Amino acid sequence: MTTSSLPESLIATLPGDHYTSQELFRLEQEHIFESMWFCVARSADLDRPGRYRTFQVGRESVLVTRSRDRTVRAFFNVCRHRGAQLCTQPSGEVKRAFQCPYHAWTYDLEGKLVAAPNLTKMPDIGRTEFGLVPVQVREWLGYVWVCLADDPPSFEEQVVGDVVARLGDAEVIERYSIEELDVGRRIVYDVAANWKLIVENFMECYHCATIHPELTEVLPEFADGYAAQYFVGHGAEFGADVKGFTVDGSEGLDRIPTVTPAQDRRYYAITIRPQVFVNLVPDHVILHRMYPVAADRTIVECDWLYLKDVVARDEDISRSVELFHRVNTQDFAACERCQPAMGSRLYAGGGVLVPSEHHIAAFHEWVLDRLGPPSGRAGVSRG
Ligand code: FES
Ligand code: FE
Repeated sequence: MTTSSLPESLIATLPGDHYTSQELFRLEQEHIFESMWFCVARSADLDRPGRYRTFQVGRESVLVTRSRDRTVRAFFNVCRHRGAQLCTQPSGEVKRAFQCPYHAWTYDLEGKLVAAPNLTKMPDIGRTEFGLVPVQVREWLGYVWVCLADDPPSFEEQVVGDVVARLGDAEVIERYSIEELDVGRRIVYDVAANWKLIVENFMECYHCATIHPELTEVLPEFADGYAAQYFVGHGAEFGADVKGFTVDGSEGLDRIPTVTPAQDRRYYAITIRPQVFVNLVPDHVILHRMYPVAADRTIVECDWLYLKDVVARDEDISRSVELFHRVNTQDFAACERCQPAMGSRLYAGGGVLVPSEHHIAAFHEWVLDRLGPPSGRAGVSRG
């Protein structure tokens, strides 16, 4: 069947090459990941001055650290001398400064060039002018978001706006006090699939009855194929016999006290474009960040967040973590199953979206809109 012959109740997906093309991925890096607010780290990962993490954001490596005034700062991870990558490790800690391993130019935690061999003989080198180039930073929900654009979009419109569009009200998410929670478990998944397959999968629940037996036990309405994301403001209700959001429906951990009775025993799922998924349940929050690294590879870092006391007392969160770890494993296996077929000639015109998946078409339109008109997609240069 070609997509042009689809009946009205079905809609075409993106063509297969949108999940395999290096050129399209490069455009996505430029027009999406390097242009929008991009969530990189848990603020608590940078809990003292000098601790740092490095991330690939689009085509750039970004260094995120905490400076002596305790603010979070982000820089292009590029030495201003001859361009060596300053920090090559994914995370670490420096005492007072970052020293380039090539010729030892040294930058303080605010990015200022503070030392370089023979620098006194080079009076024309401005220490601020040749400091690390900063990247815009915001903190929200206890996470660090960066934006590489010269003129960043409004954080409220882009990031908070997506949450409001899904929940109808940012207060719903704020009641989970996410910035006050601690990471109980973090699992990093290396997924051999295009980032859009992962987003699309997260947005729909047509697959839930087939691949998520544990999740549909806890959230019986998911067996019908309509995701919590399909309806604005809707939280999926726990099954009648379910005590908590755990792999066997057994009791969970201490509830987050600011969660309202209306939100209790419910599960909310939110996609924050371009690369964050949030799940809210009464006793914990699950937050995924995707780091797309190639057209066919995406790293997903997933945090399970609990009340500080739950983490400090080292309570048993294993049944709680296991539920969504299984969901993740099942979802990512499905995405990896689709990825090779995206290059099949059978998928050149794409596949189909059934009615319960129609909201995914809005995501496709959004991606295409970001990339610009098809005629302009070839050979677009960096601004
Ligand atoms: Fe960094 Fe020379 S490239 S000091
Ligand atoms: Fe799923």
